[in-house]
Amino acid sequence: MALEPTREDKFSFGLWTIGWNAQDQFGSATRPHLDAVEAVNKLSDLGAYGMTFHDNDLFPFESTAAQRRTEIDRLKGALDSTGLVIPMVTTNLFSHPVFKDGGFTSNDRSVRRFAIRKVIENLDLAAELGAETFVMWGGREGSEYDSAKDIRGALERYREAVNLLGDYVTDKGYNIRFAIEPKPNEPRGDILLPTLGHALAFIETLERPELVGINPETGHEQMAGLNFTHGIAQALYQGKLFHIDLNGQRGVKFDQDLVFGHGDLQNAFSLVDLLENGGPNGTPAYTGPRHFDYKPSRTEDINGVWDSAAANMRMYLLLKERAAAFRADPEVQAALAFSKVDEINQPTLNPGEGYDALIADTSAYEDFDAAPYFGGKGFGFVKLQQLFLEHLLGAR
Ligand code: GCO
Ligand code: MN
Ligand code: MN
Repeated sequence: MALEPTREDKFSFGLWTIGWNAQDQFGSATRPHLDAVEAVNKLSDLGAYGMTFHDNDLFPFESTAAQRRTEIDRLKGALDSTGLVIPMVTTNLFSHPVFKDGGFTSNDRSVRRFAIRKVIENLDLAAELGAETFVMWGGREGSEYDSAKDIRGALERYREAVNLLGDYVTDKGYNIRFAIEPKPNEPRGDILLPTLGHALAFIETLERPELVGINPETGHEQMAGLNFTHGIAQALYQGKLFHIDLNGQRGVKFDQDLVFGHGDLQNAFSLVDLLENGGPNGTPAYTGPRHFDYKPSRTEDINGVWDSAAANMRMYLLLKERAAAFRADPEVQAALAFSKVDEINQPTLNPGEGYDALIADTSAYEDFDAAPYFGGKGFGFVKLQQLFLEHLLGAR
């Protein structure tokens, strides 16, 4: 299997990832500004197929319409010359002081109206560039103090905003779907829709739920101590995995945004196995962009930035290669069968069987022998997991 990334792999990067100048809460920038045209050219050389951005990654918040147009046209020129695409666009509703209490859910109504308008402008740009996914990460939608935010009111305003934006893309005929990106905290003490489960539940309350899915990020679920692969499996199960942010996180702490696989490697492996082989008969379960939302560490100069970008794609391809070997191994097949992994797909009731027939079936209850489960009938999950890890380590 090829470890050189190609366009078919559908790897994409946020302009804010490779473009991060490494300014953090404790120190100033360690790298200069990265021009969007240079970013497009270099990503294309590295084998990525797409780049994504926030409006204000491309042009500053204060830009005039003319300045905005200059930057958009420069970007379009670079896209034309490289063939790179913009699969996703997102709005910055978190950097400017006006958004200090959020955008869609600021307590200040005029800020909420401004935020919706800013997103509408950016939807027009997304449509112009052919982006099919519009991510909404509500980083400032939340609070530090329970006394300061009426959460039910805030969710109602969130709903109002997303419903209106759904009307807008529908009326305009834009081929755009929304993807809500959950995060438990940072920058707010507590962010609304903190996990993908909260987001999935919220989406069902919307007027056009079919237009809205999720953009889960590896590190965000892991910051909450959750299993990212499980979450992605549920998002796929519910038809809501509209986009994905891949990166690395080591445990419950601040959002590390490490290179994909540089955090919880085992979970990254099971994730790639799910995305690539988790569909019926081992087909990809997810066909959208493999989008990296990481931060090149503050220690790195521009060479380190490009090394880390390449590392994301190489980690993904290495894990994909290992996952294919895992699936193809006859010992693994036998271990999967022993562990009854496939039996979960067999309905618990027989065709047409209801509770009456189940009650009438004495083998299910009266004659069922639970005793052998004590001291016997082990599932062999540990042996299976050892095989999984030996494949991850390249030991098989
Ligand atoms: C973060 C988020 C962001 C979003 C981006 C897209 O924790 O900072 O992951 O990087 O993905 O704003 O809207
Ligand atoms: Mn993040
Ligand atoms: Mn993200």
